[in-house]
Amino acid sequence: MAERVLVVGGGGREHALAWKLAQSPQVQQVLVAPGNAGTASCGKISNSEVSLSNHSILAQFCKDHHVGLVVVGPEVPLAADEYIVDDLTAAGVPCFGSSAKAAQLEASKSFSKAFMERHGIPTARYASFRPAATSSTVDKALVVKASGLAAGKGVIVARDQDEACRAVMDIMKDRAFGSAGEEVVVEELLEGEEVSCLCFSDGHSVAPMPPAQDHKRLQDGDQGPNTGGMGAYCPTPQVSQELLQQIRESVLQKTVDGMREEGTSYGGVLYAGLMLTNQGPKVLDFNCRFGDPECQVTPPCGTRTALQLLC
Ligand code: AMP
Ligand code: GLY
Repeated sequence: MAERVLVVGGGGREHALAWKLAQSPQVQQVLVAPGNAGTASCGKISNSEVSLSNHSILAQFCKDHHVGLVVVGPEVPLAADEYIVDDLTAAGVPCFGSSAKAAQLEASKSFSKAFMERHGIPTARYASFRPAATSSTVDKALVVKASGLAAGKGVIVARDQDEACRAVMDIMKDRAFGSAGEEVVVEELLEGEEVSCLCFSDGHSVAPMPPAQDHKRLQDGDQGPNTGGMGAYCPTPQVSQELLQQIRESVLQKTVDGMREEGTSYGGVLYAGLMLTNQGPKVLDFNCRFGDPECQVTPPCGTRTALQLLC
């Protein structure tokens, strides 16, 4: 049971998490590091200046301040290079989030596509490339993705082959997304409604959250480039209970089972970005964290019991 919780991150998602966690009678205080103006001082919630880069200092801080649970918001601290969950867990600090190895599902699109192929999880047909083989091989692929983490912006939906080739060059040669683009995934274009289906997992079972949708395009009327999400709503009428059950079985549970079978237990939040196509739901990508901005609408909509499981 946690009496003091530390939320890592500084966006609207972390504000929403802190807000929800603060409602638990089991939580006396929520610290947010680094937090933002909204979480600076608000009832049980306040910001903390503790270092997030030095995990020994962070672990000692948690022990000194009786932090019973750390909840990680963004993807970067989870991924390899940072290892926040691995390090805090090893230091004896309970931490909610996926291990760096499990976070590969988000941090490497190339890994996650190959994983989905191995486990028969529905997704777009794809190929992945490292330099040299690229532009001449791209003939009818229309979605070009930097394989690594690019804050949700490393995807170019190309209208034709020229645009797809240009996208490959921008990413690989001109390094538009830095090292995230050292490997590129090229996919068939999927059409349909896009939904975000998230669940909690302990590495064995899954507890789905209410499905949400976010507004992807930068401008009104679904115009302009794709973004990480300009706003969101939850629940969405696009996902019936029956469809959610199908997604739960064919995507969420299959992914958690597949990761475990491959020796990597998947704990934390699993976020499946899905396209509802004519052939059924297909995975666009996985994230190993709560959605942003989806998290700002999901807890108010009914993640009460699931989020409170954390405390
Ligand atoms: P991702 O980071 O892979 O989720 O891609 C970011 C966004 O690009 C998604 O939220 C979709 O809007 C779009 N997208 C990605 N892959 C595809 C695809 N195969 N077909 C159509 N749109 C896609
Ligand atoms: N809203 C998309 C994401 O959190 O990745």
